[in-house]
Amino acid sequence: MALKTISLYAVIGNPIAHSLSPVMHNAAFKAMGMAAGFVAFQVTDAATALAGVRALGIAGLSVTLPHKQSVMDCLDEVAEDARVIGAVNTVVNRRGRLCGYNTDAPGALTALRRKVDPQGRRVLILGAGGAARALVHAVTGSGGRVALVNRGRQRARELARDFAVEVLSLAEIPAFAPEIIINTTSVGMFPEKAQTPLPEEFLQPGMVVMDIVYNPLNTSLLQAAGRRGALIIDGLEMFVAQGALQFELWTGVKAPVAIMRQAVLRALGENCSLQETSSVGN
Ligand code: ATR
Repeated sequence: MALKTISLYAVIGNPIAHSLSPVMHNAAFKAMGMAAGFVAFQVTDAATALAGVRALGIAGLSVTLPHKQSVMDCLDEVAEDARVIGAVNTVVNRRGRLCGYNTDAPGALTALRRKVDPQGRRVLILGAGGAARALVHAVTGSGGRVALVNRGRQRARELARDFAVEVLSLAEIPAFAPEIIINTTSVGMFPEKAQTPLPEEFLQPGMVVMDIVYNPLNTSLLQAAGRRGALIIDGLEMFVAQGALQFELWTGVKAPVAIMRQAVLRALGENCSLQETSSVGN
């Protein structure tokens, strides 16, 4: 009897045990009737893992912290926007050629556009790490006017220089009068759920406030934004949107987004142990 061949996909990161990417992508493969499976690998060295991808013929990867930068040196091609952002979160194995992409930036934009078009809007981005780079690229690319606030001023200045945006102190925020605020830091993530990256006084009615943290979904920042009459976008939206784009890059098939969102929501609700570790990223 001939063995059925399946395409294997994986997420690499460290830590990885509680990533929701396997739940989301396996639900999508199943819904589409595809002979494919998705597993998680805890990886300390991206280069060795990528050699394994080549050797084993793994069809595609999702890449999460801390490998989004280091994986770039191991690829045959890197898409232009991923190069500009400086991070790859998706690898496609095209007959042995490993090609890198960034779906965080367009995924964030999809999530944001469900509530507001950033074109011509004043957008305050909290943070200056890898996720902030993807968000700054996405928002400036779609015509938003970006300002940054970050704990470490030097890192914010470097990011601001790369993308020609401004850096603000907390005291300068009211004069900037942000219409959209996006948290890209890990502040507020489990177990430090009570923390917030921005004091409530800066949140105003009519603003759109988006958080990329998805554990918990209703972060302290979003709770405060709701109390102040702002529109809120939780981290589930970006996670699912970036995952849907990954699925489409790997398979060439339109992603079953509603099924993917449902699978992640169910896992967030059921799996309490998820709350023991990271919940930003893939
Ligand atoms: P990622 O690639 O997910 O963005 P990162 O590169 O480690 O991760 O960046 C984390 C971001 O969260 C940074 O902006 C960091 O601020 P610093 O640049 O000052 O380190 C921010 N961050 C993390 N913990 C924080 C905290 N307790 N208070 C304020 N900012 C914090």
